[in-house]
Amino acid sequence: MQRSDLPELVAMSRENMAAIILSSWGEEWKDERLMDLLLDQRVETTVLEGDDGIEAYYCVEDIDEYIFISSFQVRRDFHRKGLGTRMLDMIEERARRDGKAEVELCVQSTNEKAKEFYYYHGYDLMYRNGNNLIMRKKL
Ligand SMILES: CC(C)(COP(=O)(O)OP(=O)(O)OC[C@H]1O[C@@H](n2cnc3c(N)ncnc32)[C@H](O)[C@@H]1OP(=O)(O)O)[C@@H](O)C(=O)NCCC(=O)NCCS
Repeated sequence: MQRSDLPELVAMSRENMAAIILSSWGEEWKDERLMDLLLDQRVETTVLEGDDGIEAYYCVEDIDEYIFISSFQVRRDFHRKGLGTRMLDMIEERARRDGKAEVELCVQSTNEKAKEFYYYHGYDLMYRNGNNLIMRKKL
C-alpha cells in the first residue's frame, strides 16, 4: 500500500460497509477509524490494482499462531469476479508459508453476503462477540 492509496481505500470501504456498520452496531461509519487501522504499523495492507485503479484490498495482522484479517474489501463494481477468493488464497498461502495454523477474521452479524462467502470458503463460526462473529479456518 502507498499512502496515496488511502483515499481510495477509505472510499471503497465506506461504500461497502456504512450500511452494515449502522445495522450491526447502530453506529455511523467513521473514516478515521479505518485510517487508524491502515496506518497502524502492526497491520500489513495489500492492494490489488487493475487498469481502472484499485479493485480490492485486505489488511492482515500477525498474531502468534494465526493470522487475523482486519479488513477485507472488494470494490462494489468488482464483486463476484473472483477477487475475494484470490485474496483469501493469498492470505492462506502466506499464513502457511509462515507456519501459521489458522486464519481468523471478524464479520458483522448482519453482513449476510460476507458470512456466506466465508462459509463457502471453509471458515467456521467460533463465537459471537456482541454483534460480531469470529470465524476461523484451520490450515
Ligand atoms: C464478501 C466479498 C469480500 C466477496 O468477494 P467477491 O470478490 O465478490 O467474491 P468472489 O467473486 O471471489 O466469490 C467467489 C465465490 O464465493 C461465493 N460467494 C461470493 N459471494 C457470495 C454470496 N453473496 N452468497 C453466496 N455465495 C457467495 C460464490 O460461490 C462465488 O463463486 P461464483 O462467482 O462462482 O458464484 C465482497 O462481496 C465484498 O467486498 N463485500 C463488501 C465488503 C465486505 O463485506 N467485506 C467483508 C467484511 S468482514
